[in-house]
Amino acid sequence: MKFITAIIKPFKFTDVKQALSDLGVSGLTVTEVSGYGRQKGQTEVYRGAEYVSSMLPKLKLEIAVSDAFADKVIEIVSASAHTDEIGDGKIFVFDLADVLRVRTGEQGDLAL
Ligand SMILES: Nc1ncnc2c1ncn2[C@@H]1O[C@H](COP(=O)(O)OP(=O)(O)OP(=O)(O)O)[C@@H](O)[C@H]1O
Ligand SMILES: [Mg+2]
Repeated sequence: MKFITAIIKPFKFTDVKQALSDLGVSGLTVTEVSGYGRQKGQTEVYRGAEYVSSMLPKLKLEIAVSDAFADKVIEIVSASAHTDEIGDGKIFVFDLADVLRVRTGEQGDLAL
């Protein structure tokens, strides 16, 4: 299994969520975060306003998926979060050792 963490522009969330839902992803966690990338100190446009701050608001998505599904999910997140402007975000991929579904006690792929 893989654990996919994606940092995206907040206004792209609806598109990304819809794309993941269409793909059949069974769960998703989202957190408001702030961060910076390579252009720290330079301006980036967010909701029509130019931010000069080096810390910009982003959303962090966390998605646990089976190995067979991981590449497709990464591709879909990347495509649906893409604007071709700086600050589009990053996707980090981790190996996921295990998952436990609390209600049923299922583990691994069955718990996703
Ligand atoms: N190396 C990193 N480690 C952790 N988080 C990062 C890293 N790079 C970017 N991020 C996170 O992703 C967000 C968006 O990064 P961003 O898309 O600006 O990356 P970039 O490398 O500057 O690419 P671009 O040139 O397209 O802007 C940052 O605000 C930060 O939250
Ligand atoms: Mg950047």
